Amino acid sequence: MSKTATLEIDGKKYEFPIIVGTENEVAIEIGTLRSATGAITIDPGYKNTGSCKSEITFLDGEEGILRYRGYSIEELAEKADFLEVSYLLIFGELPKKAELEKFENDIRKHTLVNEEMKNIIDGFPKTAHPMGVLAALTSALTAFNPKPVNPNNEKEMYDAVCKTMAKFLVIATWTYRKSMGLPLNYYDNTKGYVENFMRMMFEVPTQPYKFDKKVIDALDKLFILHADHEQNCSTSTVRIVGSSHAGLFASISAGVSALWGPLHGGANQAVLEMLEEIHNNGGDVAKYVLKAKDKDDSFRLMGFGHRVYKNFDPRATIIKQAANDVLDALGVDDPLLDIARELEKVALEDEYFKTRNLYPNVDFYSGIIYRAMGIPVGMFTVLFAIGRLPGWIAQWKEMRLNGEPIGRPRQVYTGHTLRPFTEEKNR
Ligand code: ACO
Repeated sequence: MSKTATLEIDGKKYEFPIIVGTENEVAIEIGTLRSATGAITIDPGYKNTGSCKSEITFLDGEEGILRYRGYSIEELAEKADFLEVSYLLIFGELPKKAELEKFENDIRKHTLVNEEMKNIIDGFPKTAHPMGVLAALTSALTAFNPKPVNPNNEKEMYDAVCKTMAKFLVIATWTYRKSMGLPLNYYDNTKGYVENFMRMMFEVPTQPYKFDKKVIDALDKLFILHADHEQNCSTSTVRIVGSSHAGLFASISAGVSALWGPLHGGANQAVLEMLEEIHNNGGDVAKYVLKAKDKDDSFRLMGFGHRVYKNFDPRATIIKQAANDVLDALGVDDPLLDIARELEKVALEDEYFKTRNLYPNVDFYSGIIYRAMGIPVGMFTVLFAIGRLPGWIAQWKEMRLNGEPIGRPRQVYTGHTLRPFTEEKNR
C-alpha cells in the first residue's frame, strides 16, 4: 500500500498521507486539504468520512464482524455479562474479579436519584414518549451534578462513570412508571443491575416482583449486543456535543435524542408497529414487501438494511437465536412472530432485497423478544439506550482524552449570491 494519495485539481497535484488501522482499514488524511487546495470534501451522511481514530469497537460490515476492544461479539454475548462488557468498553480491558465487584458496588453508591427530579417528571403529561422524557431527565441530571467531570482526572472520571450508569438506569425505568401512573421505584442494592431494571419497571407496592432467570439472562445479552457500535448516529452525536466540552450528562442526553429516530434506535418500535399493522390488515406479508419495493411508496421494511452491514448483522444472528429460546422458554405463541418469520423468508428470497444487500438487522428481532418479556412498545428504544450507555461513555471519554478538536463540519453553500435588500413595500 502506497503511503500517500495523490489528488489532482486543475492540473496541480497534491499529496496526502494514508493512514492504516490495526485491521488494515485505509484512510486518506485530509487535514491540510483546504489550506493546500482551497477545496473541501462533501459527503452527506458521512458515508465515506472517518471522524476520529478509535480503539474501542471494530466493525466490518462486509464480513459481518463486530468486536469490542478486540473481543468478538459472539464470545462476549456468550461468556460475559453486561457490567463486565461495560467495564471493558469504558476502561479498555476485561475486569479482574475484584475490579468487577468494585465496579458493581461503586455503581450501587449512586443509585439514589435526587427526589427533586420527581418534580421534573411530574411536569410531563402521561402520554409523553419515554425517550423524550429520558432525554430531558438525563439533561436535568446536570442541574443536580453541576461540576463538569475532568476526564483527565482518573478518579473523577471513574466516579462519573459509576454515577451515570446508576442514575440513567433508574430514570429510564421512571419514564415508564410515569406513563403508567405507577409509583416510582428505587434501586435495590442487594440485587444485580439487570434484575433491578426489571424490578424497577414492574414491581408494584402490592406484591413483590418474581424474577425469571431466563428473562434476566436474555436481557443482559441484549444489552451487550447494543453496548457499542462505533461511530453511529447517536455515538457521533455524543462525541460532537462533548467536543464542545459540554458535560457527560448533556452529551448523553443528546445521544438519547439521536437514538430516538426511527432510522436508528427507534426502528425496534417501528418494527413492532409494522408487524401489528400487517397483522391487523389480514397478515398479507407479500403486499407489504411489494409496498417496500415500490419507489412511489415511502414505506420501508423496518428492521431491514443497515448503513454498514451489507452482508449480515452479527448481532441479528445472536438475537434471532435468543428470540427463539426466550419465546420457547416463556411458552409464548405470538402471531407477530409468525409474520416476522414469513417476512424474513420472503425478503431474503426477493431479488430487490438480495441485490441491495438488505438483511434483517438487530432491531428486527429485539422488539419481538421485548414484547415476549412484557416490555411495552414505547419502552423498546429506552432499552436500546440503556444498552448503548457504556458505549456512549467510552466514546465520550476517548474523545476527550484524545484532545479532539471541536466538531465543526463545513458546507458547500448553494443559496443566493449577494442581492440587495428589498424594502417591504416593494416585495
Ligand atoms: N426497505 C426497503 N428498501 C430499503 C430499505 C428497507 N428497509 N432499506 C434500504 N432500502 C433500499 C433503498 O430504497 C435504496 O434503494 P435504491 O438503491 O433503489 O434507491 C437502497 O436500499 C439503499 O438504501 P439507503 O437508504 O441508501 O441505505 P442507507 O445505508 O443510507 O440506510 C438504513 C440504511 C437507514 C438503516 C435503511 O436501510 C433503513 O431505512 N432501514 C429501515 C430502518 C431500520 O431498520 N433502521 C435500523 C438501523 S439499525 C440501528 O440503528 C441499530
